[in-house]
Amino acid sequence: MATTKKVTAIKNTPKHLLGIQNLSVLEAKEILTEAKSFIKLNRGSSKKLDVLRGKTQINLFFEPSTRTQSSFDLAGKRLGADVMTMNMGNSALKKGETLIDTAMTLNAMHPDIIVIRHQDSGAPNLLSQKVNCTVINAGDGRREHPTQALLDALTIINRKGKIEGLKIAICGDILHSRVARSNIYLMNMLGAEVNVIAPKTLMPKGIDNLGVKSFTDMKKGLDGCDIVMMLRLQNERMQGSFLPSKREYYEFFGLTPDKLKFAKKDALLMHPGPMNRGVEIDTKLADDINVSLVKEQVELGVAVRMACLKLYCK
Ligand code: NCD
Repeated sequence: MATTKKVTAIKNTPKHLLGIQNLSVLEAKEILTEAKSFIKLNRGSSKKLDVLRGKTQINLFFEPSTRTQSSFDLAGKRLGADVMTMNMGNSALKKGETLIDTAMTLNAMHPDIIVIRHQDSGAPNLLSQKVNCTVINAGDGRREHPTQALLDALTIINRKGKIEGLKIAICGDILHSRVARSNIYLMNMLGAEVNVIAPKTLMPKGIDNLGVKSFTDMKKGLDGCDIVMMLRLQNERMQGSFLPSKREYYEFFGLTPDKLKFAKKDALLMHPGPMNRGVEIDTKLADDINVSLVKEQVELGVAVRMACLKLYCK
């Protein structure tokens, strides 16, 4: 009897997940559909599958991370992979040298997947050229954070039933944010209208070319929005002074119950974490289960990473 091979969007393309920019709509939708199937599993009492049994996953984190690192760690384990997490943040070696040397060393141990977070934009792309295994980008510099955007999309779909036709505001430190960039690509791709809101100094030049509307005023930018995505002030990427003071920033750009009223009545709030309470977001609002999706984002993050590991691992 002839066997029919399942044709999927992802298996026919290169095996790395480096950014949303390299993804087709079909691929993005395939990841989201696969991720949905893991939500229930993760809520159950038995969470272990053997999809990646015998596979070795190395998490290589050159920058601090709580959510993303633990999420990839759990995702790999729940799929049955052997997972090793390496924190490279304290390495004293030169960045370029460290990355290539490390890549060659790890490659010799035959991993099947490397998940990398790095402070330099493009580091995962460089790594993918040096190793024989799947590379998944867990955030590179200010360039991309594809799994964050995918988990944000899944969270929105889970609550609003769709992304197409929604109006989404991304607010705060757009200039330094890989989360903003990946979300702009993905939300646009999935048919949403995207507004970005930031003080002039934190708004990248030419942002309008990415298919968004830019605003320096929360009232105008939030008007009619279904989703309000807040971003952290990425102080570690700022050289020099971008803002007069944190107090003034909160006054004009911090999300408070009053400012949330500028958006739609049933608007929901998101934040990738870590949050700076009282800087970009009112602390009570951040915990308000009627409007805040922050915990759901973390929960669905594991499902999205399980989907990515499953679909991209050869
Ligand atoms: C984001 C990141 O690292 O880019 N965090 C995350 O992955 N949950 C956002 C941030 O650090 O502000």
